[in-house]
Amino acid sequence: MATFRAPRGTRDLLPAERPTWQRLETLAADLARRYGYRQIETPIFEESALFERGIGDVTDVVEKELFRVLPSRGEERERWALRPEPTAGIVRAYLQHGMHTLQQPVRLTLLGPMFRYDRPQAGRYRQFWQFDVEAIGDPGPAIDAEIIELAHRFYTEAGLTAVSARLNSIGDAICRPGYLATLRAYFEPHAAELPEEERERLATNPMRLLDSKDPRMAALVAAAPRITDHLCAPCAEHFDAVRRHLDTLEVPTVLEPALVRGLDYYSRTCFEFYREGAEGQQQALGGGGRYDGLVELLGGRPTPAIGFGLGLDRVVLALAAQGVASVPMERPAAVIVGADPADTPTRLRIATNLRAAGFSARADLAERKLARQLEGAAREGAHFAVILGDELAGGQVQLRDLEAGTQRLVNLADLPRELSRAQRQHHHGA
Ligand code: HAM
Repeated sequence: MATFRAPRGTRDLLPAERPTWQRLETLAADLARRYGYRQIETPIFEESALFERGIGDVTDVVEKELFRVLPSRGEERERWALRPEPTAGIVRAYLQHGMHTLQQPVRLTLLGPMFRYDRPQAGRYRQFWQFDVEAIGDPGPAIDAEIIELAHRFYTEAGLTAVSARLNSIGDAICRPGYLATLRAYFEPHAAELPEEERERLATNPMRLLDSKDPRMAALVAAAPRITDHLCAPCAEHFDAVRRHLDTLEVPTVLEPALVRGLDYYSRTCFEFYREGAEGQQQALGGGGRYDGLVELLGGRPTPAIGFGLGLDRVVLALAAQGVASVPMERPAAVIVGADPADTPTRLRIATNLRAAGFSARADLAERKLARQLEGAAREGAHFAVILGDELAGGQVQLRDLEAGTQRLVNLADLPRELSRAQRQHHHGA
């Protein structure tokens, strides 16, 4: 018989892992709140054309990794794709809902799954999660630094140490064409030696050569002309100001003139985050940059914008690599146990009352010996067992503190109060 497994490149996040993820999700929401970013949700699939135009036809993300969706009716295979990243969808929503009429910049945040049909390996999945932040309608440079500082704070508050920002400027529509020509002229004499894929890129997207994963390219790339030597005056000034602001905010930053990013919409400020000693290809903990041309490219008026996406899967991996303990599963405050099957309705009612009072409580509904039920409660790490016995006739139950090993008789009506008192004492005593 066939057994099913999660699709290649995807994972189940099990109950033992989810609390750690939930801590990061809560941190993301709280940081977004502190910095004034509002939550937005966009569909998980969009028109493929949005990604083709927005991210760029000749990027790996679109050319090789776009997860196209084939509905069961019609010939619409080319029409839809799962989102490989959220920025294009968020800009689409900004335009569709006329957000340019709101006070600018519009600060938006989203946390959710992204899909890239890439070859799976450690730290690279076909479904992964991003915490994304976008500020649309501000040319910077101050907000560039604010946004990079926000990303850096996420790693720090998550518990990662030694994370720094690699920073570059890739110029704008004024100075980049000149740089691209210089770059092409530099690589052209070597065209014959280039790996085939890189030779194609030389014609379509020469800056991607700087990002080549081919070891044969390393020496050539190292000696290539640098964009930062070819910035026009306004771009150079912008970049200087971003760096000064980052200094003011004390964000650890490393200049990286070969940093180009894998998506076409970027201009000026670009950045990626790495943890010291974990600086390989699948180890970028996040990245982002300015995309001053994207709103116009998708049909709006020229609107400057900047944002980042943080890879939560990789943050979880980095936390484990750094030895940060995962967050334990929540344990029930109380398990209600009793040996007499006739008590079942009472067990249910007590559990319900405790839940109504805000406690995490479970009634043991199995018909088994009291000792087994108590063992079950202890295995789950329950703090208390509420034991129903003969005293029930007088409206009383035994409240056993499974951690302290003590037990006493309490009135049913007092149970919630007794539980919170005992919990408080326990926390103070611990
Ligand atoms: P990106 O660099 O393509 O940028 O992705 C951001 C982060 O998502 C990466 O640094 C990495 O941590 C994580 N990531 C990417 N692909 C995978 C994968 N296959 N498996 C696991 N994690 C992955 C963007 O997506 C841009 N939208 C960021 C941005 C927002 N720029 C401006 N605004």
